[in-house]
Amino acid sequence: MSVDEVAPALTPDYVPGLDLRAAATDGGERAQLVRRDANALLARLLTHYEDKTTDQAADIMRMPVRDYLDDTLWQEELRAVHRQVPLPVAMSCELPRPGTYKAMDVIGVPVLITRDRDGVVHAMVNACRHRGSPVTELGTGTASRLTCPYHSWSYDLSGCLRGIYGEKTFGEVDRGARSLIPLPAEERAGIVFVGLRPGTSLDLDTWLGDLTPLLEGLGLADLHHHSTMELPGPNWKVTLDGYLETYHFASLHRGTVFKTNLSNMTAFDRWGPHQRNAAALRGITDEALKPIELRDPAKGVGPNYFIFPAMAIAGGYRQHVAISIVLPGRTRTESVTQQIIGLRRPPADEEERRAADRTRDWFFEVVRDEDYAAQYAVDRGLTALDGTDLLFGRNEPGVQHLHRAIRQHVALLRDQRGE
Ligand code: FES
Ligand SMILES: [Fe+2]
Repeated sequence: MSVDEVAPALTPDYVPGLDLRAAATDGGERAQLVRRDANALLARLLTHYEDKTTDQAADIMRMPVRDYLDDTLWQEELRAVHRQVPLPVAMSCELPRPGTYKAMDVIGVPVLITRDRDGVVHAMVNACRHRGSPVTELGTGTASRLTCPYHSWSYDLSGCLRGIYGEKTFGEVDRGARSLIPLPAEERAGIVFVGLRPGTSLDLDTWLGDLTPLLEGLGLADLHHHSTMELPGPNWKVTLDGYLETYHFASLHRGTVFKTNLSNMTAFDRWGPHQRNAAALRGITDEALKPIELRDPAKGVGPNYFIFPAMAIAGGYRQHVAISIVLPGRTRTESVTQQIIGLRRPPADEEERRAADRTRDWFFEVVRDEDYAAQYAVDRGLTALDGTDLLFGRNEPGVQHLHRAIRQHVALLRDQRGE
């Protein structure tokens, strides 16, 4: 099915999921914070709508094409960014109950995330301490024990070695020293963060800072998991650049995203390396005509949060939330994206389930056939442009911010090494 055939089906599924009207009073402190924030975003975007403007960076930024093509820099970025920082690699709803897990490849490290009997999330290297086999297949599932498929050593959900098949014949093993290698892991606001350096801690309070209450207010911790799909993409920076501006909507997404979103009209905010690009939705024209207390920000504002360096959250005010986790792949020219659809409540009937399927397929096809198709082509174009530079416009503050954050992390690591 082509994107054009699916696109009209999107509209009925664009149902608000949070009550954001200024006069609403339900929910706690976090809900009120998100309400105030959403109404402030709506006001900013209404001004942009009237003035035909958008939030802007101070200047145009130049980016050497070499910075996308240099294999040594690519490896350095992975060391400085992905190996150092808390990585948002799963949603809590993907591990909805005790005894659930998610296994995935994170920049070449096999990672297993589990929820133990007490509901606590753990992460570990998915490599058996006998001879290295992964103990589960990739993907999500349920298990009371993790049994290695190679020779049946078994581990509990926190990674402790519990059983050795044919132990009498094997010889004595110090079980305490043979746990799966633990990685730091923590949940916050419905997101599971994992670190790739064993023996370190994540300090999410500092890492997320003032973004935490806004993320918590989105209610992602209460989502119902609908689907996780995987999509290959080109170079990770080329791929992410496309998530952080609305400048391309009118041209690249003329028949899809542009039907519900305005182009090149964004309210931009940042928190440390993280950011939010809130797009103006077409519904903003109706909201503009209503008295302030009756305006519904969910109909005029499409917030796209980006948790550095990997997670984009779209549809955060709606019934259907689309989360993308973008990670570098095995080589500089590859990335891997997981697209997760979360629902504010489980489908009540077959029609609601089909509506969620439509959202899933629509997101997948738009990103694959429009964004990533264009970005694979960009990747090829960059090779031909080596030695020149690219421009990130004043109207692309989010793209500028991403690259400054990457550069800062690389500079920090070089400093620490005395380079
Ligand atoms: S490699 Fe896992 S039991 Fe042998
Ligand atoms: Fe796009």
